[in-house]
Amino acid sequence: MIPVRITLDPAFRVGPVRRRTFGSFVEHLGRCVYTGIHDPAHPSADADGFRQDVVELTRELGVSTVRYPGGNFVSGYRWEDGVGPLAERPRRLDLAWHSTDPNTVGVDEFMRWTKAAQVEPMMAVNLGTRGVQEALDLLEYCNVRSGTRLSDLRVANGSPEPHDIRMWCLGNEMDGPWQIGHKTAYEYGRLAAETARAMRMVQPDLELVACGSSGVPIPTFGEWERIVLGESYEYVDMISAHAYYWEEDGDLGSFLASATDMDHFIESVAATADAVRAHKKLAKRIHISFDEWNVWYQHRAESKPPTGDDWPVAPVLLEDRYNVADAVVVGNLLISLLRHTDRVHAASLAQLVNVIAPIMTEPGGRVWKQTIFHPFAQASRYAVGEVLRVAIDVETYETAKFGDAALADAVATYDAETGAVALFAVNRSTTQPALLEVDVRSIPGLQLLEASTLANPDHTWSATADDDTSVAPRANVSAELVDGRLRVEVPPVSWNVVRLGTRA
Ligand code: AHR
Repeated sequence: MIPVRITLDPAFRVGPVRRRTFGSFVEHLGRCVYTGIHDPAHPSADADGFRQDVVELTRELGVSTVRYPGGNFVSGYRWEDGVGPLAERPRRLDLAWHSTDPNTVGVDEFMRWTKAAQVEPMMAVNLGTRGVQEALDLLEYCNVRSGTRLSDLRVANGSPEPHDIRMWCLGNEMDGPWQIGHKTAYEYGRLAAETARAMRMVQPDLELVACGSSGVPIPTFGEWERIVLGESYEYVDMISAHAYYWEEDGDLGSFLASATDMDHFIESVAATADAVRAHKKLAKRIHISFDEWNVWYQHRAESKPPTGDDWPVAPVLLEDRYNVADAVVVGNLLISLLRHTDRVHAASLAQLVNVIAPIMTEPGGRVWKQTIFHPFAQASRYAVGEVLRVAIDVETYETAKFGDAALADAVATYDAETGAVALFAVNRSTTQPALLEVDVRSIPGLQLLEASTLANPDHTWSATADDDTSVAPRANVSAELVDGRLRVEVPPVSWNVVRLGTRA
Protein backbone atom coordinates (compact mmCIF):
# COMPACT_ATOMS: atom_id res chain seq x y z
CA MET A 1 0.00 0.00 0.00
CA ILE A 2 1.52 3.34 -1.05
CA PRO A 3 1.36 5.87 1.82
CA VAL A 4 0.05 9.26 0.74
CA ARG A 5 0.05 11.96 3.44
CA ILE A 6 -2.07 14.97 2.63
CA THR A 7 -2.56 18.07 4.74
CA LEU A 8 -5.45 20.35 4.07
CA ASP A 9 -5.69 23.83 5.53
CA PRO A 10 -8.15 26.60 4.60
CA ALA A 11 -5.29 29.08 4.95
CA PHE A 12 -3.68 27.70 1.77
CA ARG A 13 -6.13 29.29 -0.66
CA VAL A 14 -5.28 29.49 -4.35
CA GLY A 15 -8.41 31.38 -5.39
CA PRO A 16 -12.11 30.88 -5.99
CA VAL A 17 -13.53 27.82 -7.70
CA ARG A 18 -14.56 29.27 -11.06
CA ARG A 19 -17.66 27.87 -12.68
CA ARG A 20 -16.02 28.57 -16.02
CA THR A 21 -13.42 25.90 -15.28
CA PHE A 22 -16.17 23.44 -16.18
CA GLY A 23 -16.79 24.58 -19.72
CA SER A 24 -17.09 22.42 -22.81
CA PHE A 25 -17.08 22.85 -26.56
CA VAL A 26 -19.49 22.31 -29.46
CA GLU A 27 -17.93 22.47 -32.92
CA HIS A 28 -19.44 21.92 -36.33
CA LEU A 29 -17.37 18.75 -36.61
CA GLY A 30 -18.46 15.19 -37.27
CA ARG A 31 -21.60 14.38 -35.27
CA CYS A 32 -21.17 16.96 -32.51
CA VAL A 33 -23.87 19.31 -33.82
CA TYR A 34 -25.77 17.24 -36.41
CA THR A 35 -27.11 14.03 -34.80
CA GLY A 36 -25.37 15.13 -31.59
CA ILE A 37 -27.05 18.09 -29.94
CA HIS A 38 -29.33 18.53 -33.01
CA ASP A 39 -31.47 15.71 -34.37
CA PRO A 40 -34.95 16.89 -35.44
CA ALA A 41 -36.09 13.29 -36.04
CA HIS A 42 -35.31 12.27 -32.47
CA PRO A 43 -38.35 11.67 -30.22
CA SER A 44 -36.99 14.10 -27.61
CA ALA A 45 -36.28 16.93 -30.10
CA ASP A 46 -37.72 20.37 -29.34
CA ALA A 47 -39.10 22.83 -31.91
CA ASP A 48 -35.54 23.73 -32.99
CA GLY A 49 -34.60 20.07 -33.40
CA PHE A 50 -32.43 19.91 -30.27
CA ARG A 51 -32.39 16.62 -28.40
CA GLN A 52 -33.65 17.15 -24.88
CA ASP A 53 -32.03 13.94 -23.65
CA VAL A 54 -28.67 15.50 -24.59
CA VAL A 55 -29.67 18.76 -22.90
CA GLU A 56 -30.46 16.81 -19.73
CA LEU A 57 -27.10 15.04 -19.73
CA THR A 58 -25.33 18.34 -20.43
CA ARG A 59 -26.92 19.70 -17.27
CA GLU A 60 -26.06 16.56 -15.32
CA LEU A 61 -22.47 16.90 -16.52
CA GLY A 62 -22.46 20.33 -14.90
CA VAL A 63 -21.20 22.23 -17.93
CA SER A 64 -20.91 25.98 -17.36
CA THR A 65 -19.80 27.51 -20.66
CA VAL A 66 -19.85 26.13 -24.20
CA ARG A 67 -17.43 27.33 -26.86
CA TYR A 68 -18.86 27.51 -30.40
CA PRO A 69 -18.72 27.04 -33.45
CA GLY A 70 -15.09 25.84 -33.59
CA GLY A 71 -12.33 24.83 -33.53
CA ASN A 72 -10.68 24.50 -36.90
CA PHE A 73 -14.13 24.87 -38.46
CA VAL A 74 -14.42 28.52 -37.45
CA SER A 75 -11.40 29.52 -39.53
CA GLY A 76 -13.42 29.04 -42.73
CA TYR A 77 -16.87 29.89 -41.35
CA ARG A 78 -19.24 32.55 -42.63
CA TRP A 79 -21.63 33.14 -39.76
CA GLU A 80 -24.19 34.79 -42.11
CA ASP A 81 -24.77 31.37 -43.73
CA GLY A 82 -26.28 30.11 -40.48
CA VAL A 83 -28.93 32.79 -39.89
CA GLY A 84 -32.30 33.52 -41.46
CA PRO A 85 -34.84 31.24 -43.13
CA LEU A 86 -33.63 27.63 -43.20
CA ALA A 87 -34.62 27.13 -46.82
CA GLU A 88 -32.32 29.94 -47.90
CA ARG A 89 -29.23 28.79 -46.02
CA PRO A 90 -26.42 27.58 -48.27
CA ARG A 91 -24.68 24.25 -47.99
CA ARG A 92 -20.96 24.90 -47.74
CA LEU A 93 -17.75 22.94 -47.88
CA ASP A 94 -16.09 22.72 -44.49
CA LEU A 95 -12.43 22.56 -45.43
CA ALA A 96 -11.23 21.90 -41.90
CA TRP A 97 -13.02 18.54 -41.66
CA HIS A 98 -13.56 17.80 -45.36
CA SER A 99 -17.31 17.76 -44.78
CA THR A 100 -20.43 19.59 -45.94
CA ASP A 101 -22.23 21.90 -43.55
CA PRO A 102 -25.97 22.32 -44.28
CA ASN A 103 -26.04 25.37 -41.95
CA THR A 104 -29.23 24.11 -40.34
CA VAL A 105 -27.78 25.20 -37.01
CA GLY A 106 -26.32 28.68 -36.69
CA VAL A 107 -25.81 31.31 -34.05
CA ASP A 108 -29.51 31.90 -33.24
CA GLU A 109 -30.29 28.20 -32.85
CA PHE A 110 -27.12 27.68 -30.80
CA MET A 111 -28.09 30.53 -28.50
CA ARG A 112 -31.53 28.99 -27.95
CA TRP A 113 -29.78 25.70 -27.16
CA THR A 114 -27.57 27.43 -24.55
CA LYS A 115 -30.71 28.70 -22.83
CA ALA A 116 -32.21 25.21 -22.70
CA ALA A 117 -28.93 23.71 -21.49
CA GLN A 118 -28.42 26.59 -19.02
CA VAL A 119 -24.87 27.26 -20.19
CA GLU A 120 -22.98 30.44 -21.01
CA PRO A 121 -21.87 30.80 -24.65
CA MET A 122 -18.26 31.46 -25.63
CA MET A 123 -18.26 32.59 -29.25
CA ALA A 124 -15.30 32.29 -31.62
CA VAL A 125 -14.80 34.64 -34.58
CA ASN A 126 -13.12 33.65 -37.83
CA LEU A 127 -9.65 35.18 -38.05
CA GLY A 128 -8.49 32.60 -40.58
CA THR A 129 -10.22 33.64 -43.82
CA ARG A 130 -11.80 36.77 -42.34
CA GLY A 131 -10.90 39.75 -40.21
CA VAL A 132 -11.92 42.77 -38.17
CA GLN A 133 -15.05 43.69 -40.13
CA GLU A 134 -16.67 40.26 -40.00
CA ALA A 135 -15.94 39.98 -36.28
CA LEU A 136 -17.60 43.37 -35.79
CA ASP A 137 -20.57 42.28 -37.89
CA LEU A 138 -21.12 39.16 -35.78
CA LEU A 139 -20.79 41.20 -32.60
CA GLU A 140 -23.35 43.72 -33.89
CA TYR A 141 -25.71 40.90 -34.90
CA CYS A 142 -25.41 39.23 -31.49
CA ASN A 143 -25.06 42.00 -28.93
CA VAL A 144 -26.50 45.28 -30.23
CA ARG A 145 -30.10 45.61 -29.08
CA SER A 146 -31.67 47.01 -32.28
CA GLY A 147 -31.72 49.97 -34.62
CA THR A 148 -28.84 48.91 -36.88
CA ARG A 149 -28.86 46.74 -39.97
CA LEU A 150 -27.45 43.61 -38.36
CA SER A 151 -29.15 43.93 -34.97
CA ASP A 152 -32.48 44.44 -36.78
CA LEU A 153 -31.70 41.38 -38.87
CA ARG A 154 -31.37 39.32 -35.68
CA VAL A 155 -34.69 40.70 -34.47
CA ALA A 156 -36.29 39.87 -37.83
CA ASN A 157 -34.82 36.37 -37.57
CA GLY A 158 -36.77 35.79 -34.37
CA SER A 159 -34.39 36.84 -31.57
CA PRO A 160 -35.78 40.15 -30.24
CA GLU A 161 -33.40 40.26 -27.28
CA PRO A 162 -29.64 40.64 -27.81
CA HIS A 163 -27.71 37.42 -27.29
CA ASP A 164 -25.41 39.33 -24.93
CA ILE A 165 -22.35 37.14 -25.41
CA ARG A 166 -19.59 38.16 -23.03
CA MET A 167 -16.68 35.84 -23.89
CA TRP A 168 -15.19 35.87 -27.39
CA CYS A 169 -12.29 33.88 -28.86
CA LEU A 170 -10.23 35.85 -31.36
CA GLY A 171 -9.83 33.01 -33.85
CA ASN A 172 -8.72 29.46 -33.24
CA GLU A 173 -5.27 27.84 -33.10
CA MET A 174 -3.72 30.38 -35.42
CA ASP A 175 -0.28 28.96 -34.51
CA GLY A 176 -1.11 25.64 -36.20
CA PRO A 177 0.09 25.03 -39.77
CA TRP A 178 -3.13 22.97 -40.23
CA GLN A 179 -5.29 26.03 -39.57
CA ILE A 180 -7.03 27.73 -42.49
CA GLY A 181 -5.40 31.16 -42.65
CA HIS A 182 -2.51 30.11 -40.35
CA LYS A 183 -0.38 33.09 -39.38
CA THR A 184 2.95 33.95 -37.86
CA ALA A 185 2.84 35.12 -34.26
CA TYR A 186 3.40 38.70 -35.33
CA GLU A 187 0.72 38.64 -38.06
CA TYR A 188 -1.77 37.09 -35.67
CA GLY A 189 -0.81 39.33 -32.74
CA ARG A 190 -1.51 42.43 -34.83
CA LEU A 191 -4.83 41.06 -36.10
CA ALA A 192 -5.91 39.98 -32.62
CA ALA A 193 -5.04 43.43 -31.25
CA GLU A 194 -6.94 45.29 -33.97
CA THR A 195 -9.95 42.97 -33.79
CA ALA A 196 -10.07 43.31 -30.01
CA ARG A 197 -9.63 47.08 -30.13
CA ALA A 198 -12.48 47.44 -32.61
CA MET A 199 -14.77 45.04 -30.73
CA ARG A 200 -14.21 47.09 -27.58
CA MET A 201 -15.35 50.20 -29.46
CA VAL A 202 -18.74 48.47 -29.68
CA GLN A 203 -18.66 47.00 -26.18
CA PRO A 204 -15.74 47.87 -23.89
CA ASP A 205 -16.45 45.21 -21.27
CA LEU A 206 -16.24 42.10 -23.47
CA GLU A 207 -13.95 39.30 -22.27
CA LEU A 208 -11.56 38.57 -25.12
CA VAL A 209 -9.33 35.54 -25.58
CA ALA A 210 -6.30 35.64 -27.86
CA CYS A 211 -5.05 32.39 -29.39
CA GLY A 212 -2.15 30.87 -27.52
CA SER A 213 -0.34 27.68 -28.42
CA SER A 214 -1.85 24.39 -29.54
CA GLY A 215 0.39 22.45 -27.19
CA VAL A 216 3.80 22.50 -25.55
CA PRO A 217 5.40 20.38 -28.33
CA ILE A 218 4.56 23.00 -31.02
CA PRO A 219 7.94 24.52 -32.05
CA THR A 220 6.69 28.08 -31.54
CA PHE A 221 5.43 27.42 -27.97
CA GLY A 222 6.47 30.24 -25.64
CA GLU A 223 7.73 32.53 -28.41
CA TRP A 224 4.18 32.58 -29.77
CA GLU A 225 2.72 33.81 -26.49
CA ARG A 226 5.49 36.37 -26.05
CA ILE A 227 4.98 37.89 -29.49
CA VAL A 228 1.17 37.67 -29.57
CA LEU A 229 0.87 39.28 -26.15
CA GLY A 230 3.58 41.78 -27.09
CA GLU A 231 1.15 43.03 -29.75
CA SER A 232 -2.21 42.53 -28.02
CA TYR A 233 -1.67 42.61 -24.22
CA GLU A 234 -3.54 45.87 -23.67
CA TYR A 235 -6.64 44.70 -25.56
CA VAL A 236 -7.23 41.11 -24.42
CA ASP A 237 -8.07 39.43 -21.12
CA MET A 238 -6.99 35.85 -21.65
CA ILE A 239 -4.72 33.78 -23.81
CA SER A 240 -5.82 30.31 -24.81
CA ALA A 241 -4.11 26.97 -24.30
CA HIS A 242 -5.01 23.80 -26.20
CA ALA A 243 -3.67 20.32 -25.47
CA TYR A 244 -4.50 16.94 -26.91
CA TYR A 245 -1.26 15.01 -26.98
CA TRP A 246 -2.01 12.96 -23.87
CA GLU A 247 -2.86 9.40 -24.85
CA GLU A 248 -2.05 5.86 -23.73
CA ASP A 249 0.34 4.56 -26.36
CA GLY A 250 1.59 1.52 -24.49
CA ASP A 251 3.18 3.55 -21.65
CA LEU A 252 0.46 3.70 -19.02
CA GLY A 253 2.81 5.17 -16.39
CA SER A 254 3.58 8.23 -18.50
CA PHE A 255 -0.05 8.60 -19.53
CA LEU A 256 -1.21 8.68 -15.91
CA ALA A 257 1.26 11.53 -15.26
CA SER A 258 -0.19 13.71 -18.05
CA ALA A 259 -1.40 16.33 -15.56
CA THR A 260 2.23 17.18 -14.70
CA ASP A 261 2.51 18.33 -18.29
CA MET A 262 -0.66 20.40 -18.02
CA ASP A 263 0.85 22.00 -14.88
CA HIS A 264 3.98 22.82 -16.87
CA PHE A 265 1.92 24.23 -19.77
CA ILE A 266 -0.12 26.53 -17.52
CA GLU A 267 2.86 27.71 -15.49
CA SER A 268 4.93 28.41 -18.63
CA VAL A 269 2.16 30.47 -20.26
CA ALA A 270 1.57 32.41 -17.02
CA ALA A 271 5.31 33.11 -16.72
CA THR A 272 5.49 34.31 -20.33
CA ALA A 273 2.46 36.56 -19.88
CA ASP A 274 4.02 37.97 -16.72
CA ALA A 275 7.29 38.63 -18.55
CA VAL A 276 5.38 40.69 -21.16
CA ARG A 277 3.59 42.47 -18.33
CA ALA A 278 6.92 43.35 -16.69
CA HIS A 279 8.35 44.57 -19.97
CA LYS A 280 5.30 46.74 -20.64
CA LYS A 281 5.21 47.98 -17.03
CA LEU A 282 1.50 47.21 -16.73
CA ALA A 283 -0.54 46.28 -13.67
CA LYS A 284 -3.07 44.21 -15.59
CA ARG A 285 -2.59 40.43 -15.60
CA ILE A 286 -3.45 38.13 -18.48
CA HIS A 287 -5.24 34.93 -17.52
CA ILE A 288 -5.51 31.61 -19.30
CA SER A 289 -8.46 30.11 -21.11
CA PHE A 290 -7.62 26.39 -21.43
CA ASP A 291 -10.36 26.15 -24.00
CA GLU A 292 -9.55 22.81 -25.60
CA TRP A 293 -8.29 19.91 -23.51
CA ASN A 294 -8.91 16.19 -23.36
CA VAL A 295 -7.42 12.80 -24.02
CA TRP A 296 -7.55 12.28 -27.79
CA TYR A 297 -6.28 9.25 -29.73
CA GLN A 298 -5.46 11.36 -32.79
CA HIS A 299 -3.75 8.67 -34.80
CA ARG A 300 -6.67 6.25 -34.78
CA ALA A 301 -8.71 5.80 -37.94
CA GLU A 302 -11.78 7.56 -36.49
CA SER A 303 -9.83 10.82 -36.39
CA LYS A 304 -9.06 10.86 -40.11
CA PRO A 305 -11.33 13.20 -42.12
CA PRO A 306 -12.76 12.00 -45.44
CA THR A 307 -10.74 12.69 -48.59
CA GLY A 308 -11.21 13.22 -52.33
CA ASP A 309 -14.72 13.86 -53.62
CA ASP A 310 -16.34 12.65 -50.44
CA TRP A 311 -17.72 15.67 -48.50
CA PRO A 312 -20.31 14.08 -46.19
CA VAL A 313 -22.65 15.83 -43.78
CA ALA A 314 -21.89 14.88 -40.16
CA PRO A 315 -19.53 11.95 -40.74
CA VAL A 316 -18.36 9.80 -37.85
CA LEU A 317 -15.18 11.62 -36.81
CA LEU A 318 -13.05 11.65 -33.65
CA GLU A 319 -15.49 9.32 -31.88
CA ASP A 320 -12.95 8.08 -29.35
CA ARG A 321 -14.11 5.45 -26.86
CA TYR A 322 -12.74 6.23 -23.42
CA ASN A 323 -11.69 3.68 -20.85
CA VAL A 324 -11.22 3.85 -17.10
CA ALA A 325 -7.58 4.99 -17.31
CA ASP A 326 -8.67 7.82 -19.63
CA ALA A 327 -11.22 8.89 -17.01
CA VAL A 328 -8.54 8.90 -14.30
CA VAL A 329 -6.37 11.14 -16.49
CA VAL A 330 -9.30 13.46 -17.24
CA GLY A 331 -9.93 13.69 -13.49
CA ASN A 332 -6.27 14.49 -12.91
CA LEU A 333 -6.35 17.18 -15.61
CA LEU A 334 -9.29 18.73 -13.75
CA ILE A 335 -7.17 18.67 -10.58
CA SER A 336 -4.48 20.59 -12.49
CA LEU A 337 -6.99 23.17 -13.78
CA LEU A 338 -8.42 23.66 -10.30
CA ARG A 339 -5.06 24.12 -8.58
CA HIS A 340 -4.28 26.84 -11.12
CA THR A 341 -7.53 28.69 -10.54
CA ASP A 342 -5.50 31.85 -9.89
CA ARG A 343 -4.41 31.85 -13.58
CA VAL A 344 -6.89 29.62 -15.41
CA HIS A 345 -10.08 31.66 -15.60
CA ALA A 346 -11.89 29.51 -18.18
CA ALA A 347 -11.54 26.02 -19.61
CA SER A 348 -13.39 23.81 -22.07
CA LEU A 349 -13.38 20.04 -22.18
CA ALA A 350 -13.28 19.29 -25.90
CA GLN A 351 -15.81 18.36 -26.96
CA LEU A 352 -19.31 17.82 -25.55
CA VAL A 353 -21.09 15.26 -27.75
CA ASN A 354 -19.79 12.41 -29.95
CA VAL A 355 -16.52 14.13 -30.92
CA ILE A 356 -13.89 13.21 -28.26
CA ALA A 357 -16.79 13.55 -25.88
CA PRO A 358 -18.26 12.55 -22.53
CA ILE A 359 -21.76 12.23 -24.09
CA MET A 360 -22.51 9.92 -27.02
CA THR A 361 -25.63 9.63 -29.14
CA GLU A 362 -27.14 7.21 -31.60
CA PRO A 363 -28.85 9.10 -34.44
CA GLY A 364 -32.53 9.00 -33.55
CA GLY A 365 -31.71 6.68 -30.64
CA ARG A 366 -30.03 6.33 -27.28
CA VAL A 367 -27.78 8.75 -25.44
CA TRP A 368 -25.08 7.39 -23.15
CA LYS A 369 -22.18 8.40 -20.92
CA GLN A 370 -18.52 7.67 -21.52
CA THR A 371 -16.21 6.99 -18.55
CA ILE A 372 -14.83 10.54 -18.69
CA PHE A 373 -18.31 11.88 -17.92
CA HIS A 374 -17.99 10.89 -14.27
CA PRO A 375 -14.91 12.81 -13.05
CA PHE A 376 -16.10 15.94 -14.84
CA ALA A 377 -19.61 15.72 -13.38
CA GLN A 378 -18.31 15.08 -9.86
CA ALA A 379 -15.72 17.86 -9.95
CA SER A 380 -18.24 20.32 -11.37
CA ARG A 381 -20.82 19.42 -8.74
CA TYR A 382 -18.64 19.21 -5.65
CA ALA A 383 -15.89 21.82 -6.23
CA VAL A 384 -17.36 24.81 -4.39
CA GLY A 385 -15.91 27.83 -2.61
CA GLU A 386 -12.14 28.23 -2.61
CA VAL A 387 -9.51 25.96 -4.11
CA LEU A 388 -7.00 24.82 -1.50
CA ARG A 389 -3.47 23.86 -2.36
CA VAL A 390 -2.86 20.65 -0.43
CA ALA A 391 0.50 19.56 0.95
CA ILE A 392 1.07 16.05 -0.40
CA ASP A 393 3.82 13.70 0.65
CA VAL A 394 4.15 10.64 -1.60
CA GLU A 395 6.84 8.69 -3.44
CA THR A 396 7.61 9.48 -7.04
CA TYR A 397 8.07 7.21 -10.05
CA GLU A 398 9.97 7.72 -13.24
CA THR A 399 8.09 8.28 -16.48
CA ALA A 400 9.56 8.17 -19.97
CA LYS A 401 7.61 11.23 -21.11
CA PHE A 402 7.41 13.57 -18.13
CA GLY A 403 10.33 12.68 -15.84
CA ASP A 404 9.67 12.04 -12.15
CA ALA A 405 6.01 12.18 -11.17
CA ALA A 406 4.23 11.76 -7.84
CA LEU A 407 2.38 8.46 -7.47
CA ALA A 408 -0.70 10.34 -6.32
CA ASP A 409 -2.11 13.80 -6.93
CA ALA A 410 -4.85 15.77 -5.20
CA VAL A 411 -6.55 19.11 -4.77
CA ALA A 412 -9.26 20.22 -2.34
CA THR A 413 -11.98 22.83 -2.22
CA TYR A 414 -13.54 24.44 0.83
CA ASP A 415 -16.71 26.46 1.09
CA ALA A 416 -16.44 28.55 4.25
CA GLU A 417 -20.17 29.40 4.10
CA THR A 418 -21.46 25.85 4.18
CA GLY A 419 -18.41 24.09 5.60
CA ALA A 420 -18.31 21.76 2.59
CA VAL A 421 -14.94 20.20 1.79
CA ALA A 422 -14.22 18.16 -1.32
CA LEU A 423 -11.01 16.25 -1.90
CA PHE A 424 -10.25 15.07 -5.43
CA ALA A 425 -7.41 12.55 -5.69
CA VAL A 426 -5.92 10.10 -8.17
CA ASN A 427 -3.74 7.07 -7.61
CA ARG A 428 -1.36 6.92 -10.56
CA SER A 429 0.20 3.61 -9.60
CA THR A 430 -0.56 0.95 -12.19
CA THR A 431 -0.17 -1.88 -9.69
CA GLN A 432 -0.51 -0.80 -6.08
CA PRO A 433 -3.35 0.53 -3.96
CA ALA A 434 -2.63 3.67 -1.94
CA LEU A 435 -3.65 4.72 1.55
CA LEU A 436 -4.64 8.39 1.65
CA GLU A 437 -4.10 9.78 5.15
CA VAL A 438 -5.55 13.25 5.17
CA ASP A 439 -5.05 15.65 8.05
CA VAL A 440 -8.13 17.90 8.19
CA ARG A 441 -7.76 19.04 11.81
CA SER A 442 -7.52 22.66 10.67
CA ILE A 443 -11.27 22.57 9.97
CA PRO A 444 -12.93 21.54 13.23
CA GLY A 445 -16.18 19.59 13.36
CA LEU A 446 -15.96 17.89 9.98
CA GLN A 447 -17.96 14.75 9.28
CA LEU A 448 -17.46 12.26 6.48
CA LEU A 449 -20.33 12.65 4.02
CA GLU A 450 -19.32 10.47 1.11
CA ALA A 451 -16.30 8.79 -0.46
CA SER A 452 -16.40 7.42 -3.97
CA THR A 453 -13.96 5.74 -6.31
CA LEU A 454 -13.91 5.17 -10.04
CA ALA A 455 -11.68 2.23 -10.92
CA ASN A 456 -11.86 -1.26 -12.38
CA PRO A 457 -9.59 -4.32 -12.24
CA ASP A 458 -9.45 -3.93 -16.03
CA HIS A 459 -8.60 -0.29 -16.58
CA THR A 460 -9.27 -0.70 -20.32
CA TRP A 461 -13.02 -1.13 -19.71
CA SER A 462 -15.08 1.26 -21.87
CA ALA A 463 -18.77 2.08 -21.72
CA THR A 464 -21.10 1.36 -24.63
CA ALA A 465 -24.67 2.30 -25.46
CA ASP A 466 -25.70 -1.06 -23.98
CA ASP A 467 -23.69 -0.69 -20.78
CA ASP A 468 -22.62 2.68 -19.46
CA THR A 469 -23.28 1.89 -15.79
CA SER A 470 -21.43 -1.24 -14.73
CA VAL A 471 -18.26 0.81 -14.11
CA ALA A 472 -18.97 4.20 -12.50
CA PRO A 473 -18.04 5.95 -9.25
CA ARG A 474 -18.92 3.64 -6.36
CA ALA A 475 -19.01 4.23 -2.60
CA ASN A 476 -15.58 3.65 -1.08
CA VAL A 477 -16.42 1.94 2.20
CA SER A 478 -12.83 1.98 3.44
CA ALA A 479 -13.11 5.71 4.23
CA GLU A 480 -13.14 6.73 7.89
CA LEU A 481 -12.68 10.02 9.69
CA VAL A 482 -11.39 9.90 13.25
CA ASP A 483 -10.29 12.99 15.23
CA GLY A 484 -9.74 15.08 12.13
CA ARG A 485 -7.74 12.38 10.34
CA LEU A 486 -9.27 10.85 7.24
CA ARG A 487 -8.06 7.49 5.96
CA VAL A 488 -9.17 5.99 2.69
CA GLU A 489 -7.75 3.14 0.64
CA VAL A 490 -7.80 3.70 -3.10
CA PRO A 491 -7.07 1.14 -5.82
CA PRO A 492 -4.45 1.53 -8.56
CA VAL A 493 -5.44 3.69 -11.55
CA SER A 494 -8.28 5.37 -9.68
CA TRP A 495 -10.16 8.66 -9.44
CA ASN A 496 -11.48 9.42 -5.97
CA VAL A 497 -13.74 12.03 -4.40
CA VAL A 498 -14.18 12.47 -0.65
CA ARG A 499 -16.77 14.88 0.65
CA LEU A 500 -16.67 16.21 4.19
CA GLY A 501 -18.89 18.75 5.86
CA THR A 502 -19.74 20.41 9.10
CA ARG A 503 -23.42 19.84 8.28
CA ALA A 504 -25.02 16.79 6.67
O1 AHR B 1 -11.34 19.56 -31.04
C1 AHR B 1 -10.90 19.10 -32.28
C2 AHR B 1 -9.97 20.07 -32.97
O2 AHR B 1 -8.77 20.13 -32.27
C3 AHR B 1 -10.42 21.51 -33.03
O3 AHR B 1 -11.20 21.77 -34.15
C4 AHR B 1 -9.13 22.26 -33.13
O4 AHR B 1 -9.22 23.55 -32.60
C5 AHR B 1 -8.13 21.37 -32.45
O5 AHR B 1 -6.98 21.18 -33.21
